[in-house]
Amino acid sequence: MTETTANAMWGGRFAAGPDAIMEAINASIGFDKRLAKQDIEGSRAHAAMLAATGILSDSDVAAIREGLLTVLSEIEGGGFQFSTALEDIHMNVEARLKQVIGEPAGRLHTARSRNDQVATDFRLWVRDQADAAIQGLEALMRALLRQAEQGADWVMPGFTHLQTAQPVTWGHHMMAYVEMLARDRSRFADARARMNESPLGAAALAGTSFPIDRHMTAAALGFDRPMANSLDAVSDRDFALEFLAAASICAMHLSRFAEELVIWSSAQFRFVRLSDRFSTGSSIMPQKKNPDAAELIRAKIGRILGANVALLTVMKGLPLTYSKDMQEDKEQVFDAADTLMLALAAMEGMVRDMTANREALEQAAGSGFSTATDLADWLVRVLGLPFREAHHVTGTLVAMAEQAGVDLPELSLAQMQSVHPGITQDIFAVLGVHNSVASRTSYGGTAPAQVRAQIARWKEMLP
Ligand code: ARG
Repeated sequence: MTETTANAMWGGRFAAGPDAIMEAINASIGFDKRLAKQDIEGSRAHAAMLAATGILSDSDVAAIREGLLTVLSEIEGGGFQFSTALEDIHMNVEARLKQVIGEPAGRLHTARSRNDQVATDFRLWVRDQADAAIQGLEALMRALLRQAEQGADWVMPGFTHLQTAQPVTWGHHMMAYVEMLARDRSRFADARARMNESPLGAAALAGTSFPIDRHMTAAALGFDRPMANSLDAVSDRDFALEFLAAASICAMHLSRFAEELVIWSSAQFRFVRLSDRFSTGSSIMPQKKNPDAAELIRAKIGRILGANVALLTVMKGLPLTYSKDMQEDKEQVFDAADTLMLALAAMEGMVRDMTANREALEQAAGSGFSTATDLADWLVRVLGLPFREAHHVTGTLVAMAEQAGVDLPELSLAQMQSVHPGITQDIFAVLGVHNSVASRTSYGGTAPAQVRAQIARWKEMLP
């Protein structure tokens, strides 16, 4: 084993440096370099506060704040040399600051610990991702609104059990996803509001004896207030878990829609045509156009849900306060956030580009006895039959049509009357799919007028 030198940041009581394996398992710089911007933002706010409270001199703090900007531009320019021996982003930045400005760099860590530092950096990062998720959702909602507007009165089959149930409108189906995504949006907004408290100044776990101003750093970083309990501040990762929970539900929604697009774009359905830009070909079957983006969106929820479970598992056994286990929070969240943003963007592109096949939708809307409920409702409304009896009469008619190999509107009046003599010619009006959807005017129903009202409401509400 080679003797290495002790860590320059915390090596005071160490005679030797870590084993190479220790260094490998301990280092987080390989991934937490993604927190560089937030780390430097947090350090600059902390330094400004140390000057304002007289804990450090103005000249030291000016050098620190300026030097941190230099380090940031080195990192953003790609010229920064990250060191595994320096473990993480916090110590990499501080060590470089020392090289750039010398002695004042060693004063930056006054009244602070890496525990409150990492909690702050990570919160800032997740907060940005919540904002990005909200933006991605709004873009997708706008794309769905455009589809809904175009086909507010196009008819298609509505399904239960993936069996034809009742005719609905294309616009109504698109707007169902707008509602789902709107709940996702409000979940991210909720999580963001709750996470927007500053851990900075909790120090290692107990607070500090220096006369710091936590309200000042909280405000500088755009937080609503400092967290009220220092133990909670350094040990809480609820903000990341809430983000992952919201992301999981959102990804589940995207996956359901992706599943529909896979089905709808098949030759058997032909409900939609996906654009060339969002499909792929087969290397052997020249006729194929595959909905790969939809399939990948459907699959990617696994990573997001996995991250959620993984972080809950990391956290569930930890006594207060910080344990190094918590370093395992970042990669999961990074990957889940990247995955979600990509899935949102891909879905937005697919929806923006796709063309609904109005004729195929309409043809399918009328098949499968989809207006049987309308028939039963007519028997109730016009002949005064109890619904149960109307259901039975309709069932008999459906069986008759099925036997004859025709759809309900193709039965003759005489055939209808053989099942119930009270039926008149008027009944044929309700058997058409357009009449069927137009009649569903109850609030939230599929009637084009209702759908247009919902579209107008959302266009008003979306920025
Ligand atoms: N790299 C560490 C992490 O991500 C930073 C905090 C280290 N704190 C400590 N007490 N060792 O969690």
